[in-house]
Amino acid sequence: MFETLSPKPADAILKLIGEHQNDPRAEKIDLGVGVYRDAHGNTPIPAVVKIAEQWLVENQSSKSYLGSRGDPAYCEAIQKLTFGDAAGSDRITSIQTPGGSGALRVAAELILRAKPNATMWVSVPTWNNHIPLLGQAGINLREYAYYDTDSNSLRFGEMMDCLEKADAGDLVLLHGCCHNPTGIDLSAEQWLLVADLVVRKELIPLIDIAYQGFAMDVDTDAYGVRLLFGSVPEVIVTSSCSKNFGLYRDRAGTLMLVCENAESAKTVASQALSVVRTMYSIPPDHGAAIVSRILHDDDLHAEWLAELAEMRGRMTGIRSTLVAALKDVAPDHDFSHIERTHGMFCYLGVSPEQVDRLKKDRGVYLVDSSRINVCGITEGNVAYLAESIASVL
Ligand code: LMR
Repeated sequence: MFETLSPKPADAILKLIGEHQNDPRAEKIDLGVGVYRDAHGNTPIPAVVKIAEQWLVENQSSKSYLGSRGDPAYCEAIQKLTFGDAAGSDRITSIQTPGGSGALRVAAELILRAKPNATMWVSVPTWNNHIPLLGQAGINLREYAYYDTDSNSLRFGEMMDCLEKADAGDLVLLHGCCHNPTGIDLSAEQWLLVADLVVRKELIPLIDIAYQGFAMDVDTDAYGVRLLFGSVPEVIVTSSCSKNFGLYRDRAGTLMLVCENAESAKTVASQALSVVRTMYSIPPDHGAAIVSRILHDDDLHAEWLAELAEMRGRMTGIRSTLVAALKDVAPDHDFSHIERTHGMFCYLGVSPEQVDRLKKDRGVYLVDSSRINVCGITEGNVAYLAESIASVL
């Protein structure tokens, strides 16, 4: 049977992990996969996660099955983090999922159950796994303009023009904050205009929020989600604790479904659970149990917010350091967008050939689109990185 299959190319982001690891050069730099790194280049387990993990070791009394929904206490805590004061609404139903990707995959199945030939509008560009993940599930994908690579800015007018072409009942995928890969987010005014359009055109927003707390703070970063909750009858939200809790491999995510009313929420929850039962049955628990412990304990919650602020500060600071270093070695080029964008990512603004030279000649690894994860930059490697970029311009 398997002889009918031909090899598939590796994922453009994940393949960089191995390529960087196998590079023997001491000066190599990894700006690839989206993991946080501290000033020493390490991806630490946050101290608050260690404390919660220790608490679990001492207090968890069973590893028996949880249901397909996961832990209701975890779901409740994530709902609060995401929706703030509206979290208790009986219009919202949530399930714990294996990371944000798991939430997206369950969402896709659920959408197709409700609407077998659903169309979803995605930004150009978007996270490189959105398109295969949602497209291979069977959703028809259409594109809306988002980023202008010449001016490194948002194509907001064109975005709105594209979305005007959507039909009632189409879905639109929006990034809650820290747009991946560009780092360019909608302003509060732009969110309001998008919300108006979504209402007027009767679209259904799917908001992917994988970096809450990495742009401004957890509440400001949830502005778009909260606005749309109050604007339209149905919203789908997929969230991840991989980055903001540093729980990457433990796969803690959430699918939140905002429905027209409580009765619809019950029906939708029952459908979501039946999707989960036939896909992976029950979500992994360990990461979600850590998050639940942190969010339900005032001291740990405060400590987490402080650690999150530290991560955010490092990302903001190192963006400025890189821009200053580039000014010295490439004064004719404008890299100021690196300071204007948010979260882990932005485009460097070089061609795929230049990306290839950075890799081959300098051991600097980034995605072909020229997306960089700014967390790969440290005070120790920023001069080498700036020289490397200048050398390919
Ligand atoms: C990324 O964009 O690098 C992260 O979301 C990790 C991944 O799975 O692609």
